Amino acid sequence: MTRFQIQVPATSANLGPGFDSVGIALTKFVTLDCRPADEWHFAVPEEDQPYIPAGKTNLVYQTALHTAKVHGHDSLPPTHVTMTNDVPIARGLGSSSTAVVGGIELANQLLDLRLSDYDKFKIACEIEGHPDNVGPAIYGGIMVSNYDNGALDYVHFTDGLDDLTWLAVIPNYHLKTEKARGLLPVELPYKEAVNNSGSANVLVAALAMKNWELAGRMMKSDRWHQPYRQALIPGFTDVEKATTDAGALGFYISGAGPTMLALFDEWDEAKAARLKQELADFQVEPLQAHLTGVTVHKQTEAKHC
Ligand code: HSE
Repeated sequence: MTRFQIQVPATSANLGPGFDSVGIALTKFVTLDCRPADEWHFAVPEEDQPYIPAGKTNLVYQTALHTAKVHGHDSLPPTHVTMTNDVPIARGLGSSSTAVVGGIELANQLLDLRLSDYDKFKIACEIEGHPDNVGPAIYGGIMVSNYDNGALDYVHFTDGLDDLTWLAVIPNYHLKTEKARGLLPVELPYKEAVNNSGSANVLVAALAMKNWELAGRMMKSDRWHQPYRQALIPGFTDVEKATTDAGALGFYISGAGPTMLALFDEWDEAKAARLKQELADFQVEPLQAHLTGVTVHKQTEAKHC
């Protein structure tokens, strides 16, 4: 009898102007400990129980079943899944992507589907609709990708990311992605779109060239979404000022918010203590890039004679 554990990292999408197409995996995780059972059950941490159902309606199971059906299976073997969750729900750190990627991997393991990372990425994009969180959750590091009418193209890189600290400043309230997307304009003037595309291009080139100072400046230059979303995040300007004064190279709304991320190339405990004190209304967590994406650890039970 085999038990296994799936670990999926949190992700931060957009990085400023890389709207819907750039994301990074970070060192916070959802863990699914899976063992065979007579019926399906998800043991969910108490604080998440109002949002994550214990039964088959939850997103992990629904995604696993969808993945199974896409590959010609009608059902999944009943499993007891114990969830450990360090990724706060509806805060802009990719919690729904952890469920989607976790569900795909669950089906992959239970049915021995032998999916490639690209297979997983495509299924995840069909479900999420945009690739910027699910991509890094699968591959780790930074993922630059585009999903357009079923066509999925990407560039993935991890070089130099070990040198950086991504400071997550997490408000203590939920913000639904649909609400934050609902504030965005339907159209942009052509010239504005060209400028936004230009700053996104420079962002990506700077990240790939490890020019962190330039990448940080581009994060702050976003005009695709942040000007519209800032109003939903009380304290945005104060957090930007505090982190910039502390030496942050870049600052942006993580995904649809409300978490804000500040990029540092120099970091120490004194800086961490000072910022935690200054930003006491928020959960302040220094994170690193997670370079490998979703992982599976198998555990075979010893046979008793
Ligand atoms: N790119 C997405 C957004 C991420 O900003 O709305 C959240 O799903």
